[in-house]
Formats: sequence, C-alpha cells, structure tokens
Amino acid sequence: MRILKVIILFLVFQVSAQQGGMWIPSLLEGMNESEMQSLGSKLTAKDIYDVNNSSLKDAIGHFNGGCTSEVISPKGLLLTNHHCGFSQIQSHSSLENDYLKDGFWAMNFEEEIPNEGLFVEFIVRIEDVTDAMLKNVSDAMSPREKQSQIDKNRNAVEKNIVKEEWQDFKIRPFYKGNQYYLFITERFEDVRLVGAPPSSIGKFGSDTDNWVWPRHTGDFSLFRIYADKNNRPAKYSKDNVPYTPKHFLPVSLDGVEEGDFTMVFGFPGRTNEYLPAVAVEQITQKLNPSNIAIREAALKVIDASMKADDQIRIQYASKQARIANAWKKWIGENQGIEKSGAVEIKRQFEKEFVKALTDQGKEAAYGNILPEFEKLYKEFETVNVKRNNFVEVFLRSNELMQMMFRLVQMENTANRGEEAFEKARMSMVNQLKGIHKNYNSAVDKGVFEAVMPLYSSNFDASIYDNTAFVNLESALKLLEGDSKTVLQKLNDDAAYQYAKPLVLEFYTNLEPEFQRINTQINALQTKYMKALMEVLPEERYFPDANSTLRVTYGKVNGYAPRDAVYYNPVTYLDGVMEKYVPGDYEFDVPQKLRDLYEDKDYGPYADKNGKLPICFLGTNHTTGGNSGSPAIDAEGNLVGLNFDRVWEGTMSDIYYDPEICRNIMVDLRYVLFIIDKYAGAKHLIEEMKLVHPKK
Ligand code: ARG
Ligand code: GLU
Repeated sequence: MRILKVIILFLVFQVSAQQGGMWIPSLLEGMNESEMQSLGSKLTAKDIYDVNNSSLKDAIGHFNGGCTSEVISPKGLLLTNHHCGFSQIQSHSSLENDYLKDGFWAMNFEEEIPNEGLFVEFIVRIEDVTDAMLKNVSDAMSPREKQSQIDKNRNAVEKNIVKEEWQDFKIRPFYKGNQYYLFITERFEDVRLVGAPPSSIGKFGSDTDNWVWPRHTGDFSLFRIYADKNNRPAKYSKDNVPYTPKHFLPVSLDGVEEGDFTMVFGFPGRTNEYLPAVAVEQITQKLNPSNIAIREAALKVIDASMKADDQIRIQYASKQARIANAWKKWIGENQGIEKSGAVEIKRQFEKEFVKALTDQGKEAAYGNILPEFEKLYKEFETVNVKRNNFVEVFLRSNELMQMMFRLVQMENTANRGEEAFEKARMSMVNQLKGIHKNYNSAVDKGVFEAVMPLYSSNFDASIYDNTAFVNLESALKLLEGDSKTVLQKLNDDAAYQYAKPLVLEFYTNLEPEFQRINTQINALQTKYMKALMEVLPEERYFPDANSTLRVTYGKVNGYAPRDAVYYNPVTYLDGVMEKYVPGDYEFDVPQKLRDLYEDKDYGPYADKNGKLPICFLGTNHTTGGNSGSPAIDAEGNLVGLNFDRVWEGTMSDIYYDPEICRNIMVDLRYVLFIIDKYAGAKHLIEEMKLVHPKK
C-alpha cells in the first residue's frame, strides 16, 4: 500500500514536472524547489533568489524593457540576443559601416559604442504587497470603485517604500489583480555595444527559420554596462567605468544533453493562460486571421523593397523584423490551438469548474462567470477586431498613418492653450525626425495601398502626392508657427484630411466602446481567477507573464510534432552547412565560418564527439520577453541563450501543451566559438569564467 502510494506520488510528480509555468523567483521554496531538484537541479531556492546575499537573480537584467540579458563577466559584460540588440546594431550601421551585414567587434573598451536611450534594469528585491494594495477592496464594489480604492492604497504603499535614493520601484498585479508585488529595481543607462556577429550568423535563416526547429541561428550580441565611480547607475559619461556586478554567470564548456535539467531566468512579457474557451475562439477565429492578413500585405511590399535596395534594407531592418515576427507567430498559434484541441479542452475544464461550483455550493458567488463571459465576448467581437485592425494599420504597419495619428493628438492639445500646444508641437517635431531617419515614402505608399483596403473601403493613395509629411523638410516647415497657423496648414494637407476622420472615429467610437467592454471583461477575469484557485485548489496556478522576473524550468528534450516525426533536441554546425545557399539573403554562410568548418577548428568548444553544437531545445515555458534569457544548468552555470520557441508550440501563451511546447536556445559553446574563432575577440573570452561542471 505504501509502495503504491509512493509510486503514485512519483507518477504525479513526473507528470506535473512537465506542466510548464513561470514562477515568481522569491517564492520558489517548497513546490518549485523540490520539483526542480526532481528534474536534476542542484540549486536551492536561495541560490536563485536571495535578498541578503548575491544570487543568480543579480546577474539577470531586463534589457530595454523588452528582452532579457545576463551579466557574464566581473566587468559588466552583458549577453543578449542579436535580435534584442538589433535596433542598436542597426542604428550604428550605414552603407560604409554595415554592422548588420558584417558584424561589429570592439577590440577594447574605447571602441565600445554608447546607445542613447538603452537601459538595463536589475531586480534588487521583491515584496508581496497584496494586503496593503487590496485593503478595503471588496467584491461588492464596481470596477471603478475598486480601481479608485486600489489607487488610494497604491499611494499609501508608495509612501512607505524603503529603498536607496538611486533605486526605483514598481508595483505590479499578479493573478489578474488578486495579488500584488513590489519590485525594487536598479536601472543602468550607460550600456554600450561590444559585439555582434554578422546577420548571416546572428539572424541565420531569417524569417524562413524564425519560430522553426531545427534551427541554426547564432542569435546573440554583447553589450557592457557602465556605472559611475561608486558602481551606481549613471547616465552616459566618458568617465563611467565598467560595472562590477553582484553576481555574474560562469559559462559552462560542457553544455547539456538530452534529459539534463535547464532553467530559464528572465522577463516574460505576456501570457493568457486562464482565458475562457470563448475568448480563445475569438482570438483564433477573428483577431489572428485579420491581423495576419494585414501584416502579410505589409510584408510583401517591405520584403521586396529591402531585397532590391541596400539602403532600404538597413532602414527597414528592425521594422520588418518586428512585423514579421508576430505575423508568423500568430499563424503558428492558430495551428497549435486547432491541433491541440485547446478550445475543447478548455470547455471540458469549464464543465469541471461548474461541477465543482455545484458540489461546493458556490453557484451564487461564481455561477454567473462563464455565462457572463459568453455574453461579453459576443458583444466585444466587432469592436475588438476593428480596434485591433486599426492599431495594426495606423500604429504598426503604415508610417504616414502613424504620423497622422500623432498629429491628430497634437491638434487636440490646442484647446488646452498655446503652451500645451507648443509642447506637443515640439514633441511632434522630434517624433517626425525619428520616423524619417528610416523612412522611404515609396515603400510606405506601397504599404498603404496594401493594408488600407483591409481596414477601410475609403482609401486613396494619391494623398502621398499631396502631403508635406513624406519628406522631413516639408513636414517640419508645415509645423512652423503658432497653433492657429500650424493647424490651418495641417488641415489643408491631403493626408491629414484623409486620416483625421478615421482617427477621430477611433477616439470617439472604437476606443471608448472597446474600453467599456474590456473593463468588464477584465473585472470578470479577476473574479474567474479567484474562483478557480478557490474552487479547484489542486490545479497548478502560476501567474500570467507580466514583464516581471520569472523562473521557468524543464529539461533538454526533443519532440514529435506529427505522425512518425521526431525532432532531436540538438543541432550542429554540420546543419548550418546543409542549409547553406551561396549569396542567399537568408541562408548565406560567411567564408570564415565555412573555413573553420572545413578545418574543424572548434578549439575547446566542440562537444565530446568533436561536433560543434549550435542550438538546443528544452521544455522550459517561455514567451516573448524571454529572448536573451540565460539557460542555466543544474549548478547555476550558463549553458544557453533563449531566443525562440518551436512553431507547433507557439500557442503556449494561451494553452501550454507539454507534449509539443519547446523553447529554443543557442548553445553557449557556439557563442564562445564565434567570439573567439570567428571574430578573434579572445579578450572577451578571457573576461569570463569558463567552467567544466561535468569533469
Ligand atoms: N521569434 C523570435 C522572437 O519572438 C525571434 C525573432 C527574431 N526576428 C525575426 N524576424 N527573425 O522574438
Ligand atoms: N523571440 C522571442 C522574444 O523576443 C522569444 C521567443 C518567444 O516568444 O518565446 O522574446
């Protein structure tokens, strides 16, 4: 009997160990710690997160608010993805110094390039402030009353925060607002570019291979954090010095193999794991298809222009990557939701929830949640889709419309007086300068012709011939003068005349209606989360990603995407050569790398069979924002750099299926090999601490 119980427990453990989840680093003691150890980890919860001693978390930095990065040397050397440093690399590139195409390597501190606006933020401490934030908040309150009480509580909490004067803080809701955590942070603003491989390595396979396994991309770049003389955060200054971190990650030369424990530590952006089935249906059947169509139309134009002209290729590199990335992800997400039967599984789960409600006599408290979701999402559908499409067209794909959107905002400040208008005008001038740095009106006109018909039947591309805004000089000229003069000229501009009614429709109809329903949906989702945790307490609940620091763990593992197909979890340099297409914009391979391959000149970076590993797969539950996150081995060493997920598993933001959801990491040995053998930047390797944990 006892043995049986142990076996059952063991089985439950084995299964639950594969369920995914993104966990709060300060709460790992207990379930997570033992689960990690059952997967082979030698780390304690305190090794990962400790307030009083340095711990792994001190090496993990939020990179520019979007990606993750980690410190890998005592001199503040910072590792992240190539695609995370992409816009910085692009910004320093020109036809003469094409760092996108050729790569960039600083051979000493002096050659490292400052990046205006770039920052890296570390977490000093995490505190549960739920009680204080939800004080005097009750279920009987309306969403608005609730919010105003929470705002009041927030002010009180903020007054009592204990922190050093150079530190910052943020308070974030978890579990849909049922819990709140406070983060004390340190933000470094002098972050310099140190190294980047050519795109033919850092972006090898480009969009064809994006979100796809098997993968052969060396998706990494290097930066360095600088601090003031007291090792504190400081704005850029030539007097700043390399930052001395509280902790930096040692780098393993032994790597990991199938079955080995891995942990990914980073800042996942957003997931939606607790949506009702009806919401998932709306996303996959309505939202995704229309957004995919808009991006596909934009990409056709941008891709063709980039291939035809090197100047445009550099100008549009970041924009294209951003548009293409989500476009392809949504396609995979839809297929994954379909194939895994996620909607049906959610419906089934909802039945269990209703049954548990009945069994526990809680229908009065929670019985209306699911019917209410059905009703609200039905009401939401049209406005939700329309608003999303507006955002896609006006804010994501077409730049002239983006300018118009902001110009309408500028015009709206005029009724607040001349001073407010002047401020808005100045800001507009700066925004226009920013947009025009990488603007080509012919490309943008092509995009307009492609995407606008998908939003409005009223479209007229001749506005491009009669607007001041396709050219920076004439745009700035139009913006000269007081509010009356500027607005007169503006309202005579053809593009403005065309766009203004559409933007006003957004502000007066779409957005308020969207917000009205969305507020109700959010309030209901808060209640649903609370009900789930109360009524089905044996389920595993991790808080949805919200751009805060999380730990996710699993093991190196292949997967079987369809009948008779099994994917091995590791790729090798041989695979790069298999994909090599001379001169191709996605699959070219630099001569130097081909030579190194011919000579098998892998130095200490080959695996025990003499092969050079490139990428590997794990069962770590990751999402956008985890890019650049370290993959850490059982003893706390760096073995990989997270950068993607597999196509069949991109639905994991909504529904995590342990069978086929995998994250993709670059093997650190490939990163070291490129730095050392390809770039000849051995001085960077010498800064690091290389270890052999398996010897
Ligand atoms: N799919 C990865 C991520 O979500 C990598 C993106 C790199 N961009 C690209 N268009 N290849 O960010
Ligand atoms: N490439 C993604 C990022 O930029 C990570 C991949 C994912 O979404 O899992 O964060």
